[in-house]
Amino acid sequence: MDAPVLAVDGPGGSGKGTVCRAVTEAMGWHLLDSGAIYRALAVAAGRRGLDVSDTAALVDLAHGLDVVFEPQPDGTIRVLVDGDDVSVQLRSEQTGDLASRVAAVPAARDALLARQRAFRKPPGLVADGRDMGTVVFPDATLKIFLTASAEERALRRHNQLKEQGVDVSLADLLDEIAVRDERDRNRAVAPLVPAADAEELDTTGLSVDAVVERVLKLLQKQL
Ligand code: C5P
Repeated sequence: MDAPVLAVDGPGGSGKGTVCRAVTEAMGWHLLDSGAIYRALAVAAGRRGLDVSDTAALVDLAHGLDVVFEPQPDGTIRVLVDGDDVSVQLRSEQTGDLASRVAAVPAARDALLARQRAFRKPPGLVADGRDMGTVVFPDATLKIFLTASAEERALRRHNQLKEQGVDVSLADLLDEIAVRDERDRNRAVAPLVPAADAEELDTTGLSVDAVVERVLKLLQKQL
């Protein structure tokens, strides 16, 4: 039998990243940060000056994407693209925006499918993304769809960036979140929608610990 998968989908800022890392640690499982793969593709495209509307070139690049995730002793993950450390650039708003445009190209998504599925290994996988439960792991053991109000998501992102020493206005972040949500929800392929069999969890006003506890309880019931 395939290793169990917890699929966690939802918009940016819904708390997915934090919750997925905590659940991964509690379970001793592997973690797939699928957004980081789209971000890595965006960085690789930018480095080559590639026009993302050039689908054939983008798909070629996706197939041959040279990305390495290196877990560090402090719990962070160093990301190398073409052998260069792009960890900081990967998290920028600009990269996030380009990633969401790259991710709207169906053939580029297809080209990254096998790479994502290869993360499924014993004892289990926590998969963080937008289409984990709908497209990448339709047979996931448990599917969670995390949401939070746009205001709360903008605030969380603001605090996160501030911790990293990045100063952006809250209003700008709220605008960017709205634009990216719209694009992710309305794209033709793998739009951001909950799987029919997903548990929806609104994290507005909930602490990380409370969400993690709830997810772990639901997961234990399925194992
Ligand atoms: O989650 P993160 O902000 O790192 O993702 C960057 C972008 O990659 C998202 O805005 C989304 O457009 C895209 N993405 C996706 N499918 C995934 C993960 C991310 O389309 N499974």
